[in-house]
Formats: sequence, C-alpha cells, structure tokens
Amino acid sequence: MTLVNVDLGPRSYDIIIKEGLLSEVGSFVSQKISRGRIAIISDENVYKLHGKQLEAALIGFEKHIIICPAGEEQKSFEGLQNILNSLFDKGFERNDTLIAFGGGVIGDLAGFAASIYKRGCKFIQIPTTLLSQVDSSVGGKTAINNKYGKNLVGSFYQPQLVLSDTSILKTLPPRELKAGYAEVVKYALLGDYEFFTWLEKNGEKVLSCEPTAIAKAIAISCKTKARIVAEDEKETGTRALLNLGHTFAHALEVEAMPSGNLLHGEAVSAGIEMAFEFSAKENLCSAADVKRVKTHFQALGLISKKDITPLIKNSNKFLEHMQQDKKNVGGNITLILANSIGDAFIKRSVPKASLLEYISQISGQKNA
Ligand code: GLY
Repeated sequence: MTLVNVDLGPRSYDIIIKEGLLSEVGSFVSQKISRGRIAIISDENVYKLHGKQLEAALIGFEKHIIICPAGEEQKSFEGLQNILNSLFDKGFERNDTLIAFGGGVIGDLAGFAASIYKRGCKFIQIPTTLLSQVDSSVGGKTAINNKYGKNLVGSFYQPQLVLSDTSILKTLPPRELKAGYAEVVKYALLGDYEFFTWLEKNGEKVLSCEPTAIAKAIAISCKTKARIVAEDEKETGTRALLNLGHTFAHALEVEAMPSGNLLHGEAVSAGIEMAFEFSAKENLCSAADVKRVKTHFQALGLISKKDITPLIKNSNKFLEHMQQDKKNVGGNITLILANSIGDAFIKRSVPKASLLEYISQISGQKNA
C-alpha cells in the first residue's frame, strides 16, 4: 500500500493506492464518516462491473446510488442538475457524503455537485481509470463544460479521501489506459527527467498493468501532484505546470465535441506533442527532445498530433478556443512550454502570430 498525503492544512487528505483496495474501502470510509448517508455517483459502465463489490464493501452505510450515462456529455448543466435533483429528492443533508466512483467525468461532476449542494457536503473520490487515479481525483479541481469550452464552470473543492484500487485498471480497455498514460508521462515531462527515462524502459509494463510498474507510476504521479497542489492549491503559479499540453488539448476537445469521440487523455498526448513542437519552434527546446517525446508516444501507441489535427477546420477559431483558457491573463495566452524533457515552465503572453502560424502549419491551412 502507498499513502500520499496532500498537505493543505485543515483540508489535508490522504491518497491510498493499493491493489484490491475496493473490498477494503469500508474501513477507510468509516474513519472519515462517523454519521450520515452516502450517495454513490457512478456511470453505467463502471457500476455494472464494480458496483456490487463497492456496495458490499460499504455494508452498514445507508446508501443512495446515482447512475449517470457514461461519457463527457454528462459534464453539463443538465448532468449536474440531475445529480442535485436526485440528492434533493432523497433529502440529503450537508453532513451526508458524496462518493465519486468512476473516471474523470464522474469525479469532476460529482465533485462540483458536492461543492455546491447545500453550500458543500463531504466528498470522497474512488477513481477507476488510470487518468483519474493519477490526475483528476487529486487536487480538488471540479467542473462541467459548456459551449465555450472544457471545465469552464467549476470550483476548487478538495475531497476528504482518495482511494485508488490499481486492480480495477485491469478491466479498462487499452484505449482508456493509453489515454491515462498521457497524464503519467506529463509528470515526467514537466519536471522529472529520471521518471521519463524509467517510463521509456517500463511504459509497456505500466500499460499492461504489471502490478509493480503501475503502482510505481501512480505513486510517483500522485506524489508530484500532491507536492505541486500543496504549494499552489488555487493555481496562482506553479500548479499551471500540470497543464502541460492542456491548452492545445482543450481546444482539440472543443473541436471534437460534436462527435464526442475523443478522450481527454488522447487530446492530452496530442497536446503535449504540440507544446513540445511549439517550444522547439520558439527555439526553447531541441528538436532531439521533441523527437524523443514523439518516439515514446509512438512506441506505446498513444494518440499523436497527426491523428487529431484534421479536427482543426479553422486556425483562427482554434486560437479563439485557446483564448478561453483559464490560465490566460489580460487577453494574452499563457502556455506551458518546455526547455527540455523534465523542464517545463509557464510562458505568459505567448506571441499570437507565432502560435497562429504553428496551428495553420500543423492543420495544413493557410494563415487566415
Ligand atoms: N489537471 C491539472 C490540475 O489538477 O491542476
């Protein structure tokens, strides 16, 4: 078992990472909840596979189960309203607890609901995807999407506990695992060169859920995230590094919204590639580093930029999506760029002409 503490003073909490943890969650949850009811918020796919096991582990608690359809579309005002209505119908009180049992969509949605239901109720994360175990369940970002972009309506609301069962990951489709791996490699690329070299050697083992390798990858990712979140909970500075590749990724996701057939982690691997390429274009990092990142992604079959850039129909529009990003200040675009593998930094006021030129070039369009 690995325990990682997120040190946030009175809002500190533990992340527990363990193979087979699901059957033990009752004892961890009861240490946090002495009274009150539990609402388990999950999606139909996760609940079909693991719901009964979770219910058995939470024997003795009064439970209300809320099952949402699977998919990113649930991160909407309507999806949020459905959850809140279900809680009101059952008369949930502020002392009751919401448990998010699913991937990033469920975690973001349930977390946002917990943050606003009767001005905030208790919240526990039981993430079931690699992406949510290494990133979205930790750090308290909660949000829904709207037509202007991803995660634009939300709150910072820390959970009281994160319980990650690594054996659940074995039931994930390879596509989901690869999407989650993009967030693992992000931690290496933003500040941990050693971890990147380890991933170059062991990435296959992580993706095949080899127990030691996957536990190590999750633990390193969570430790890095816990350290950064403890330093800068509300993203006034260093936390923005965790957004490496994400400004490009979110714009790609907006472009993909009509089809809905793009996973966040897939947009992130393409976005990271774009952030490295743009860094090289700006003479910040070497072409050799860009190649090494691409080679690693290719070796593991991650989605790359060329798989997604056909989504970009209009470079100016794409830039407009990037302009909605939450990191931007005074109308200027902020990006996370890299000096090298393991050395990312926050670049404010990115030259828009150069960015537009890059977007036009990768999407094969004339700069309009
Ligand atoms: N996923 C980026 C962050 O939590 O800050």
